[in-house]
Amino acid sequence: MKVTPTPPFSRPLEVPTGPPAAKAPSEDGRFTIDDIICPFQRAAFNEGVLKADADGNVTNLKEVLQKYAGASWLMAGIGVHAAKKLTAGSDWAAFQANSYNLQDLEGSSLDHLADSQILRGGFHADRLEKALSFSSDGKRLTLADLRAFQQENLAEEPDRNSETFGAAEFALLVKVFGRIDGEGTKFIRNQDLVTLYRDAKWPQDWEPPKPGSLNLLSTVGAVSEYLSDKNEPTREQGLSSQTTKASSGTCPFLSGRPFDVEEAAKQHRDKLA
Ligand code: HEM
Repeated sequence: MKVTPTPPFSRPLEVPTGPPAAKAPSEDGRFTIDDIICPFQRAAFNEGVLKADADGNVTNLKEVLQKYAGASWLMAGIGVHAAKKLTAGSDWAAFQANSYNLQDLEGSSLDHLADSQILRGGFHADRLEKALSFSSDGKRLTLADLRAFQQENLAEEPDRNSETFGAAEFALLVKVFGRIDGEGTKFIRNQDLVTLYRDAKWPQDWEPPKPGSLNLLSTVGAVSEYLSDKNEPTREQGLSSQTTKASSGTCPFLSGRPFDVEEAAKQHRDKLA
């Protein structure tokens, strides 16, 4: 019998190898963490900050988006409205609703093809491995690496709308949980991806983005950066784009984003002497 986990809990580090559940998480009528197909909300729930009742109803997404994703008041409002609409069905009903249900993410209008499939119908270690295999250096996934991964997912499940949704999700992933290196390359550490997707935990040493830093403008910027020519779909091109950024001049460590201390020290070795 499957036991409904009570947050906060940590998923076992071992990869589940048993037979697939008879019914998809969205179809069994009971709320479990496997109903949450969004890695951000899944970790927020497991960390005990996104509060859901026994059926998966949530009323505090706005506060969570503001506090843990750095979402501006408007961005958080848009996210909450989108979530409520999934459960309520229409914009009007969503305006009147005060909650949404996490079980309604799967199979919703926001659920799309060509996703990573890591959380599709429960956690899939093989798909996480696949995502990690796109890491150019075995330690991190740059925007270019993620784009290459997304391109492969699109080849597997071609769908134009899914490309846009997926781009927005990966861009947000790096914006909220990512870092920037001395050459201006934005990335998420492989270990952080594992922590988020497999363990449903906030990454180690992670600090939420500055309040208000996730706003309409910065989101559009993040998505277009993800989609831009600088982040080409192949790993080789991705690496060459990183070289181009090295000459861009501005110090990324001063941009207010989280960065690797080791990397910063390496880049500023001359000034530290
Ligand atoms: C800033 C906060 C958020 C971040 C960083 C984030 C990140 C992501 C990422 C990276 C995925 C891709 C999953 C994959 O392909 O592996 C995803 C999926 C998803 N997210 Fe979020 N998300 C956020 C907020 C939200 C909100 C507010 C909603 C509800 C309106 C939402 C609904 C979904 C849904 C339905 C999916 C599944 C899409 C699919 O795989 O078909 N997310 N999210």
